[in-house]
Amino acid sequence: MIPNCTNARKIEHLNVLQQDEQIDRCKRYFERIHLRHRALPEVDFAAINTATTFLGKPVSFPLLISSMTGGEHELTERINRHLALAAEATGVAMGVGSQRVMFTHPESRRSFAVRQYAPNALLFANLGAVQLNYGFDLAHCRQAIDALAADALFLHLNPLQEVVQPEGNTNFSGLAERIGQIAKVLKQPVVIKEVGAGLSHADVEQLLTHGLQYFDIAGSGGTSWSRLEHYRDDSTGGRTLGLTFQDWGIPTPVALDQLSPLGNRVTLIASGGIRNGIDMVKALILGGQLCGVAAPFVEPAMQSADAVIRTIERLRLEFTTTMFLLGIAKISDLIGNRRLILDWPTV
Ligand SMILES: Cc1cc2nc3c(=O)[nH]c(=O)nc-3n(C[C@H](O)[C@H](O)[C@H](O)COP(=O)(O)O)c2cc1C
Repeated sequence: MIPNCTNARKIEHLNVLQQDEQIDRCKRYFERIHLRHRALPEVDFAAINTATTFLGKPVSFPLLISSMTGGEHELTERINRHLALAAEATGVAMGVGSQRVMFTHPESRRSFAVRQYAPNALLFANLGAVQLNYGFDLAHCRQAIDALAADALFLHLNPLQEVVQPEGNTNFSGLAERIGQIAKVLKQPVVIKEVGAGLSHADVEQLLTHGLQYFDIAGSGGTSWSRLEHYRDDSTGGRTLGLTFQDWGIPTPVALDQLSPLGNRVTLIASGGIRNGIDMVKALILGGQLCGVAAPFVEPAMQSADAVIRTIERLRLEFTTTMFLLGIAKISDLIGNRRLILDWPTV
C-alpha cells in the first residue's frame, strides 16, 4: 500500500503508461523532415565522433534519459538505479522525476540518491516550478539538488497536466519572476522544461528577461500528460478534459524551429516524441544540443540496467548511422546545420 497521493501517483503514471498504447501520441512530426542523403559521404564510419559536452560535462553522444520517476517504492527505486547504472556505463545524461515527494516522504530520498551509481554522469534534479507558488522556495531547490549531487536543476512547467486534474495546482501567476529569483542565487544552472506540450517563443523570451538561458522544449508528439492524467485519476467524475486536450501543444520540431532566431542566447534540450536516432539528428539540426527521451526507457528500466543499455546502444547506432549517411563526422557540424535538411513540408 502506498501511503501518500504524490507518491502513489508516480506508480499510477507507470501503470497507465504500460496499459494504454495510445499514451504515446506519435504524430510522426520528425518523419516529415527529410534529410539530404549523401551517396558519397566521404567519412569513415569508424571515425565518426559522437562525443560532445553539455553544461561543461562530457557525454558520449547527446542523449538525456529524461526526468521520470522516484518515490518511496521498490519499483521507482529500481527504475532510477537501473537508469543511473546504464547512464554511467554508456556516458549519457540522466534526470530524475519530480522530487516533491521527498518533502512529504523522507524515505523516498533513497530513490533519488543515484549519484552513487553514476559518479561521472551529467545528472539533473527536478521540481515542478508551480510549487514555488505553493510554499516551495530556494531551500527546497537546494535540497533537491543535494539529494543526487546533481549538476543542474530542472524546473518543469506543466500547466496542461495540472489543469486536467480536478485537484491540480493551477496558480501559475508571477512564476517567471519567482523562477528568475531562484536561478539568480542557485550555484547550479536551472533548466526550464515542459513535460510534453512544448515551450513557446513567448515563454522563452519572458524567461530570458529573468536571466534564464537553458531550456528543454519537451514538445508534443510523444507522451501525453493530458491523456495520462485522464486515465490515472478515476475521480474525474466523467470529465473528459484530459482527452479533449490529449494532442494539445507545440510539436517538438516546430518548437525548436521557432526558437532558432534566438541563436546562442539560449541553450536547448530537444525532447518530446524522440523515438530513434534519426529523430535525434533532426533535433540537433534544428538547434538542440542534447536530446531527451523518456517513455521508451520505462520498460527496460523495470527489467535491468543491461536492458536500458541495449536501448541506449540502439539509439547510438541509429544516430551514428544517420551522421554517416549525411557525411558528418562530428557533432559541431550537426547542431543548427540547416543545409542538411532536404525538405520540410510543415503543413
Ligand atoms: C513515466 C513518466 C514520468 C514522468 N515524470 C516527470 C516528472 O516527474 N517531471 C518532469 O519534468 N517530467 C516528467 N516526465 C516527462 C518527461 O520528462 C518528458 O518531458 C516527456 O515525457 C516527453 O518525452 P517522451 O515523449 O520521450 O516521453 C515524465 C515522463 C514519463 C514517461
